[in-house]
Amino acid sequence: MSIFPKNFLWGGATAANQIEGAWQEKGKGISTADICTGGSHKQSRRITTILEEQTFYPSHDAINHYYHYKEDIALFAEMGFNVYRFSIAWTRIFPTGEELEPNEAGLKFYDKVIDECLSHGIEPLITISHFEMPFHLTQKYNGWVDRRLIELFVRYAEVLFKRYAGKVKYWLTFNEINCATMAQGNLQGTGIFNGESNDFMKQADDPQLRFQALHHQFLASALAVNLGHSIDPDYKIGCMLANFTSYPLTPSPEDVLENQRAMRMSNHFCGDIQVRGEYPSFSKRYFDEHNIRIDKQSQDDEILKEGTVDYYSFSYYTSFCQTTDPKELAAGNVFGGAPNPYLKANDWGWQIDPSGLRFALNEIYDRYRIPLMVVENGLGAKDIVEADGSINDDYRIDYLKQHIEAMSEAILDGVDLIGYTPWGCIDLVSLSTGEMAKRYGFIYVDRHDDGTGDFSRKRKKSFYWYKKVIETNGSDLSNTIEEVESK
Ligand code: BG6
Repeated sequence: MSIFPKNFLWGGATAANQIEGAWQEKGKGISTADICTGGSHKQSRRITTILEEQTFYPSHDAINHYYHYKEDIALFAEMGFNVYRFSIAWTRIFPTGEELEPNEAGLKFYDKVIDECLSHGIEPLITISHFEMPFHLTQKYNGWVDRRLIELFVRYAEVLFKRYAGKVKYWLTFNEINCATMAQGNLQGTGIFNGESNDFMKQADDPQLRFQALHHQFLASALAVNLGHSIDPDYKIGCMLANFTSYPLTPSPEDVLENQRAMRMSNHFCGDIQVRGEYPSFSKRYFDEHNIRIDKQSQDDEILKEGTVDYYSFSYYTSFCQTTDPKELAAGNVFGGAPNPYLKANDWGWQIDPSGLRFALNEIYDRYRIPLMVVENGLGAKDIVEADGSINDDYRIDYLKQHIEAMSEAILDGVDLIGYTPWGCIDLVSLSTGEMAKRYGFIYVDRHDDGTGDFSRKRKKSFYWYKKVIETNGSDLSNTIEEVESK
């Protein structure tokens, strides 16, 4: 018998700039993602405010989904998806972000994607803003630092809500909104570019600007939630956070407090504002100590209160340890903190911790008591295409199996979990490194970091495994798959 509820949503997730390509097709404007070069685990991506002729920009062609969407959605349907999370590129709809009327040709593309999903019985789950926005808004306003962005975003969201009423039910406003509580969230999260450094992983940072920008995003999200509900009362509009589960490195009270501090600012800060509709009490001290003064208008508190989300979604890949010991911190962990001696990492240093997902689900549900969705999870790995053309990604099956087991434990613990959309259900461009080599997919795409490849698609072993997982509503997770595509 399955532990997962009968109508559980099983699917996968992608983002426009990481799959679509066709970066200038039919009037699309340049996005903040389009100015980021390729990179690697060792060499950071660069932010180029002027596009360089000889440089490789992975989002420009990505995996060419713009031209392959029918084939890709058919493959998702073959796996049995009943939900597909994807994002809309703001720049296809409003190329500079400031037009008064939307670009009809851009909307037509998403009409087709949505209709294709619906024809296969797949529920579209749309992220309105997934780590990209019109680059023009960065140049003119330094992104979300400027309050005028709220109106521009709400205009964009309104177009989508009206166009897709009756067709789409699930929405997310901003992808991993809490990444902007960290310096890395500048350009990708809030469209801020402070110049000085063009290193994607080490951007020049001004916390005052970053938190002001976040405040504007909270308001834009809350206004969009309200507007969405007034356009279609059946809409379910959620928040989306990157989950930063962490543990104290040692039982020393200092480490325990340090861990609490980190979890509060990285997870609860944004969660509380979007679910409870108010800034948490601990934010005052944080702002005071970091000389941050949020410029708020009189109606802002009410807007936040009235625009709380219907469900909480998050990504979960890895966990962290927190400590005050500088020696341990020097060892470094991806995105801060210290490595956990009990865990192994993938080739990119992301430690693998399925139990952390159960922990996160319980923590979040205890705190907010609204439905939860895991909208990203997965293993970035290098895949090998065997001589017979098959791709035997047992490591990926193993990772996902353990995380699905953790989800079923959390359901038994009492969590109201409604869906699971593993990340990069089809191979796509990595956000942090710009690589294709870091693959997450059930579907392999023939595209490589030097720009070679014919974009052909192939089913990996995990494709057949996940199909069986969905067929059995998560009750058969065994890796006894014989069938693997070969040439
Ligand atoms: C999440 C993002 O942070 O992690 C995705 O929402 C991203 O856009 C994913 O691709 C995995 O990260 P990466 O760097 O491996 O692509």
